[in-house]
Amino acid sequence: MTTLPVPAAVTAIRGRLVSFEPVAEGDQPRFVEDGLLVMAGGVVTAMGEAFDLLAHLPDGTRVVDHRPHLVMPGFVDPHLHMPQTQVIGSYGAELMEWLARYTFPEESRYGDPEIAGEAAVFLVDELLRSGTTTAAVYCTSHPVSVDAFFAEAARRDLRMVAGKVMMDRNAPPALLDTAQSGYDQSIALIERWHGQGRLEYAITPRFAPTSSPEQLEATGALARQHPSLHIQTHLSENHAEIAFVAELFPWSRDYLDVYERHGLVREKALFGHCIHLTERERAVLGERGASAIFCPTSNLFLGSGLFDRRGVAASGARIGLATDIGGGTSYSMLRTGAEAYKVLALQGQTLPAFDAFHMMTAGNAGAMGLGERIGRLAPGFEADVVVLDAQATPAMRRRMGRCETLAEELFVLLTMGDDRSVVATYAAGVKRHDRQNFDGPALPERPDAPSLAQPGFDPLKDTAQ
Ligand code: GUN
Ligand code: ZN
Repeated sequence: MTTLPVPAAVTAIRGRLVSFEPVAEGDQPRFVEDGLLVMAGGVVTAMGEAFDLLAHLPDGTRVVDHRPHLVMPGFVDPHLHMPQTQVIGSYGAELMEWLARYTFPEESRYGDPEIAGEAAVFLVDELLRSGTTTAAVYCTSHPVSVDAFFAEAARRDLRMVAGKVMMDRNAPPALLDTAQSGYDQSIALIERWHGQGRLEYAITPRFAPTSSPEQLEATGALARQHPSLHIQTHLSENHAEIAFVAELFPWSRDYLDVYERHGLVREKALFGHCIHLTERERAVLGERGASAIFCPTSNLFLGSGLFDRRGVAASGARIGLATDIGGGTSYSMLRTGAEAYKVLALQGQTLPAFDAFHMMTAGNAGAMGLGERIGRLAPGFEADVVVLDAQATPAMRRRMGRCETLAEELFVLLTMGDDRSVVATYAAGVKRHDRQNFDGPALPERPDAPSLAQPGFDPLKDTAQ
């Protein structure tokens, strides 16, 4: 065998390689017990048995030995909100009240580039600490929030998809754009960021209730002018939301019809939640190759309902699995997968470990239309990698004492794992998080924070706007 065709700056990771590429449910992942992943120029150049590959590495290749840990593609999170890192865990409300009471006031601060910049650093740190290397991200309606997020993602050379939220009604004035300004700002941001490094712009109407028919019309025009761009929005999350959409758009057959009317249902359109879909809506998502994004921790936390994975899959729609920070309560895709398992269990459905990890990697990449670039450990794929420790805590170590198969180990990681299991995260072949060296992100300052020591403190009353 000849030397591998790679230039000087080659890094290789040795470990237990696993890549989830099943075609049908129940297919096995690709697993190499003593494997080597060779990376150069930001992509994987070889993946296979360490014994075979080590002998043929170019001189000077740095080999990082992560044995006995698992090495897999970095997690992909196809729905989260960058300005909601300080909204997570806001008490006691369903969607519409939660938006009005907590989320909109918080997002109103993000016209300040310093606030947006600090949050972007925190978010990206936290994603990498959780093993997530790609996400579909809602910023706020302020273009500076998108600048802040993309600048930070570019600094770490991440493949990220993000957009400016468009919303021109039913929200506080500080968050509103107009049909024209939302369109113009989106165009300017596409020109500034789309295709820079690994960044991709997503057309982002927040959801039907916060856009006028004129704004949806302008959004449809944007979508037509940019047919390859992602679109991200919310769909059918909560009964009150659905009733409000029916009131605002009395002509519509159902919620999805509002988006259909404006040409927003297509491939690479990511619809967050999709809990209470009609048969018609499911069928249209499937026919158009759109993606339904399952956000279990959010759906449980906000009491929104249970995502019917089997029913949505039967329609042929793609399905993604996401954190939905900050309606969602964890940045960890492991914890998200664990909650997905429980949501499905409540409906008599199952989620085998291989399926869950497939969803979190290649499946989510496919749901985002990025299945040719990320989500697999294979030559030519971008070298985004997470290294996982299934014995990260005493409880996991003890449970692992009874595990004999890879499926069992992965299921322990899924049900008991979180950021503590993330040993290292690599993006484009460069280590961007290392559990050993991590001394924690700086806590954001909030001098006006109410003191929890105060007698009689009521989070619902005392933090209301
Ligand atoms: N629907 C519209 N906006 C939001 C949001 O920020 N979070 C969730 N969970 N649902 C939404
Ligand atoms: Zn959302």
